[in-house]
Amino acid sequence: MASIVNTQQADAWNGYEGSHWAEHQDRYDAVNSGFNEHLLSAASIGERDRVLDIGCGSGQTTCLAAARATRGRAVGLDLSAPMLRRARETAAREGVGNVSFEQGDAQVHSFPDGWFDVAISRFGVMFFADPVAAFANIRRALRPGGRLAFVCLRDMNSNDLGPVLGALAEHLPALVPTDPHEPGPTSLADPARIREVLTDAEFSNVTAIPVEAPQVWGHDAADAADFLFEWGPIQAMRRDADPVATERAHAALIAAMRPHQQSDGVRLRGAAWQVTATRRSDE
Ligand SMILES: C[S@@+](CC[C@H](N)C(=O)[O-])C[C@H]1O[C@@H](n2cnc3c(N)ncnc32)[C@H](O)[C@@H]1O
Repeated sequence: MASIVNTQQADAWNGYEGSHWAEHQDRYDAVNSGFNEHLLSAASIGERDRVLDIGCGSGQTTCLAAARATRGRAVGLDLSAPMLRRARETAAREGVGNVSFEQGDAQVHSFPDGWFDVAISRFGVMFFADPVAAFANIRRALRPGGRLAFVCLRDMNSNDLGPVLGALAEHLPALVPTDPHEPGPTSLADPARIREVLTDAEFSNVTAIPVEAPQVWGHDAADAADFLFEWGPIQAMRRDADPVATERAHAALIAAMRPHQQSDGVRLRGAAWQVTATRRSDE
């Protein structure tokens, strides 16, 4: 593997977090696949395109991109060995031939210069210690005039997940980021920050449009709470909690999920930015 500078993220995504995502690929895809159309429509993938999927995880969007680039190919890049293993297995099982996966850190990975027509990401670009350096590296991987399209989370209060997680506050210590821009799910929640980072990385034509999608967390409130309770950030909050507080937190999570339970599952409203930008064609 090439060099890694995001070592904390590499540890997390090769440790508990990545294993949980790989083991529960179907469940995470049920949470996030409502954003696929927002991502893919923004990317406008052509049949001959070479597509780079950044932070591709278990590869659902990489395979969907490959299905559009029938005479091109899709390459997924991720830090996480367990998630890439899952991605390769799924692509082989589904017979997707024009796809490949590489392990690496998008911030410093040595991409072939100017090789890709389009770079996409579903929630995989919020974890860079130096986002300007990372997006500049991704820009160099695009041909002049090449496109960037990604979805990233809006602030937690715009997402139903924010108030649901708020139900834990009484029982578990909060994971309060000291800096809202530090690597993590909401580091690009501010659209002004998105524009600043991408402009500094020398992208042009930056747009950020608010989009929403239902996120299916489970078949009923208890199932959704059980799953979310094992999610990495909540595992971290539980680490030093006593058993009584942990039990109360779990019960509070079930109660917070209950209003979102519908006949076909527990659906939370997810809110993201659909972001597009281009590498200047005269570069
Ligand atoms: C929230 S998950 C999203 C995964 C996948 N795109 C999906 O939608 O299911 C974030 C992903 O970004 C990857 N990631 C984080 N930082 C990265 C980096 N510097 N380079 C490459 N991948 C990274 C993680 O390993 C993880 O798979």
